[in-house]
Amino acid sequence: MNFINSDLTDLSNFDLNSYMSKKNTLINDELMKIINITHDSSTLIEAMSYSLLSGGKRIRPVLCIAASEAVSNKKNDVLLVACALEMIHTYSLIHDDLPAMDNDTLRRGKPTCHVAFSEAAAILAGDALLTLAFQILSSAQINNNAAKWLNVINLISKAAGYKGMIEGQVRDMVSENNPISLKELEYMHSLKTGALISVSVESGAILGNGTFEQIEHLKTYAKNIGLAFQITDDILNVTGDPAETGKATGSDESRNKNTYPALLGIAESENHAKKLIKDALHAIETFDNKSDPLRAIALYIIERKR
Ligand code: IPE
Ligand code: IPE
Ligand code: MG
Ligand code: MG
Repeated sequence: MNFINSDLTDLSNFDLNSYMSKKNTLINDELMKIINITHDSSTLIEAMSYSLLSGGKRIRPVLCIAASEAVSNKKNDVLLVACALEMIHTYSLIHDDLPAMDNDTLRRGKPTCHVAFSEAAAILAGDALLTLAFQILSSAQINNNAAKWLNVINLISKAAGYKGMIEGQVRDMVSENNPISLKELEYMHSLKTGALISVSVESGAILGNGTFEQIEHLKTYAKNIGLAFQITDDILNVTGDPAETGKATGSDESRNKNTYPALLGIAESENHAKKLIKDALHAIETFDNKSDPLRAIALYIIERKR
């Protein structure tokens, strides 16, 4: 953390672990309510719950909540949006692990959904989580905020969609065994991972009633942390410990994926991620200490071991 520190942020009074753990409790309780595991035990719901409630870091929903808090003194009810984002993310992981895609057998420290259930169940559980996310978003209590909610739903559908996350996944697939340039790699990462992270921050800021200027700064913050997040994911695929990451290491290299370490090496990839985090912190340097969670998350993104 000392590469940035004092000039951009003093986080000595902020405890990210405790912040994350409080928000994770809120998010997990709400996800459990939504999925309603106790009242229905169909294989589909079991497969959905298995992946959704299996201990992800919940970075996207926490970012959504933290962005809403950063621009507002009021308590904002963005929990359902946060949960919808996590459902979309979990669906993307289930499908990402399928044999037709990355063909991974370990996720969040457990057998992947298609291994624990079946390929068909994993495909359908992913489909169901994605559609449930939009059901939840469109049935939320929106009071007199309908236009803002519609805008948020529109932004989330674009980020997750064919010109966002899915386009990024397509590029990831078709460029296996086919080296791409750094510029193309950056664009691929900004789509497959950056888009959903960006919209998590943006939707929180919109529903927290941030000003146009605040939202623009937060979008710059989000763009930078989103790319840094995937660079770190690439690095952890080389240097990580599966006992901590909860997923396989070395799989990117064995599938001949385009990654930052493959293109730049580990040290240069780490430097690049650090620079992005510096830029993210610059983007919100005029924000007050309600943004400390966002600052701490930015630093965590490149320091994490899982
Ligand atoms: C992993 O995301 C997949 C990427 C988009 C890089 P996370 O690292 O957020 O995974 P979980 O949710 O904590 O399992
Ligand atoms: C996952 O990217 C991106 C999405 C799921 C949209 P990766 O394939 O690089 O992530 P991991 O390493 O399997 O989590
Ligand atoms: Mg993948
Ligand atoms: Mg993968």
